[in-house]
Amino acid sequence: QREPLVLGIETSCDETGVGIVRGRTLLANAIASSMDEHARYGGVVPEVAARAHLEAMTPTIERALDDAGVALEDLDAIAVTCGPGLAGALMVGISAAKALAVSLGVPLYAVNHLVGHVGADLLQGPGLRETLGAVGELELPTVALLVSGGHTSLLLVRDLVSDVEMLGETIDDAAGEAFDKVARLLGLPYPGGPQIDRVAVAGDPGAIRFPRGLTRPKDLERHRYDFSFSGLKTSVARWVEKHEAEYGGASPLPVADVAASFREAVADVLLTKALAACSDLGVPRLLLGGGVVANARVRDLAHERCVAAGVELRVPPLSLCTDNGAMIAAIGARLVAEGHAPSGLAFGADSTLPV
Ligand code: KG4
Ligand code: ZN
Repeated sequence: QREPLVLGIETSCDETGVGIVRGRTLLANAIASSMDEHARYGGVVPEVAARAHLEAMTPTIERALDDAGVALEDLDAIAVTCGPGLAGALMVGISAAKALAVSLGVPLYAVNHLVGHVGADLLQGPGLRETLGAVGELELPTVALLVSGGHTSLLLVRDLVSDVEMLGETIDDAAGEAFDKVARLLGLPYPGGPQIDRVAVAGDPGAIRFPRGLTRPKDLERHRYDFSFSGLKTSVARWVEKHEAEYGGASPLPVADVAASFREAVADVLLTKALAACSDLGVPRLLLGGGVVANARVRDLAHERCVAAGVELRVPPLSLCTDNGAMIAAIGARLVAEGHAPSGLAFGADSTLPV
């Protein structure tokens, strides 16, 4: 008996992702991004994202089928992100998934986006496992740190599909959002994460001590595993204002030092909290996911701190860290394999869906 062939659709933010898997084997991971259309607004515009998904959906499905070398009729199931995310954007993916499932007469599975990020670790394919750093199977439980432009969450995963617990999340901005906002302050284009990463290389991460949100003893009582980045962003803004007030045009803004110091603060707080969770819960494993995992300092510090703490670090390849349909398909295939009931057609988009 062959493993189920599952197509997964992801439209929670600005990426239209369509992935195809056979069991755990990755066959296709087609992505269309509307990032460029949001650039002039400095952030994702929900209405623009939804329209872009509608336009990209059919071509992206076709590309995924092409890449996988399969036909629509071969599919055994459809999986789709039902939340959390932008409601209008989610609805486009959900509608497409329902249409496919009904017309093909195959079951449909609604998948939580955050669970999908964790599911990226399931995927197998040429060269894929090697890039995980850890070649063996993901052992459970694991702590998962998901950081992107839309979310910053710390999860405890006991079972990939049925037991994922939210330990903490951002109480204001997502980490990627903070990167984008600070980049804007520094006159760098959107999306800001890669730009800050680029200019920070030439800077001194110790030049300015920016605050680490929610790490004071008083905050830790209530927010041990939560994050806050809006204070950090404000602190960078104040620093830039002060520099300009003091020096005017006489001394250019030390962009590299500001970027490096800011990046250091974000990486530090992310990994301090993630490793505190590993230590408190006695879980010697940490899985990373989300677009901010592309950050060079976040990656380096993750390796450094995990080695020091004796924690196994797993980092999916970047194409599976950023939002994609393959991770959704991977969870769908797992649901099929474990005999879970399909979701039916009555579900809708839930922009604040808990794990
Ligand atoms: O996962 P993703 O592609 O989409 C979602 O937001 O869901 O993440 C995009 C976010 C953006 O905020 C972007 O600035 C950030 O990830 N990002 C980075 C880097 N590359 C992308 N942040 C820091 N350093 C990077 N190298
Ligand atoms: Zn995501």
